[in-house]
Amino acid sequence: MPLLEARDVHGGYGGMNILNGVDMSIEADEIGVIVGPNGAGKSTMLKAIFGLLQVNQGEIRLRGEPITNLAPNKLVHMGMGFVPQENNIFPSLSVEENLEMGAYIRPSGVSRMLEQIYEFFPPLLDKRRQPAGELSGGQRQMVAMGRALMVEPSVLLLDEPTAGLSPLFMNEIFERVKKINAAGVGILMVEQHAKQALAIAHKGFVLAAGYNRFTDTGEALLNDPEVAKSFLGG
Ligand SMILES: Nc1ncnc2c1ncn2[C@@H]1O[C@H](COP(=O)(O)OP(=O)(O)O)[C@@H](O)[C@H]1O
Ligand SMILES: [Mg+2]
Repeated sequence: MPLLEARDVHGGYGGMNILNGVDMSIEADEIGVIVGPNGAGKSTMLKAIFGLLQVNQGEIRLRGEPITNLAPNKLVHMGMGFVPQENNIFPSLSVEENLEMGAYIRPSGVSRMLEQIYEFFPPLLDKRRQPAGELSGGQRQMVAMGRALMVEPSVLLLDEPTAGLSPLFMNEIFERVKKINAAGVGILMVEQHAKQALAIAHKGFVLAAGYNRFTDTGEALLNDPEVAKSFLGG
């Protein structure tokens, strides 16, 4: 049974649908990557999974259990974490306060989780007393991911975690994502750095105009000339 499965999802903002039948599925130990042009509906799809917009048709399941249109706080309790692309940290709070905010639903085990987060993201340990807003872009992403990880989710949704980062920081974030996945967290990630992201993806989903143009393993998509020509810059 897949960890996360979306079938024929239609939804959008207000009356108009942005998603016109999106299918996605990842297993518990997988990284799934969503790529596609600007405005394709990638962020909208993550928001639909996380209960941030109305799904009008189709179904989303977490470990077989229907979760379509459940509220975000309910989904967090069920083991889902979500890191939006922007405004994903509290800049004036310290790194550690940001991480502690992520633990709002867990009464105990906070210090154990902090240790685990600093293991995933060693650069944050030294900076734990600094305001998160003073960190580099890559480190702020680490804070945002760390915050979502504080409740030990089984699946983590990431919206463009490498946006605006230098190639060096981009690679560092992808390495962390692989490490988090290897520790047992399923990942569904939107990425503009399509080639590099598909290279670490077990499953890839190419969205355009609100539906799947291509769905395959990351490797197969990278090697598909049609995908390369239309979506990976040749
Ligand atoms: N809050 C919103 N209200 C209305 N339309 C939106 C909103 N957010 C995004 N859209 C529209 O939905 C479409 C898909 O957006 P989005 O999912 O953000 O694309 P992507 O992440 O693939 O670049 C775009 O046409 C965008 O203008
Ligand atoms: Mg987006």
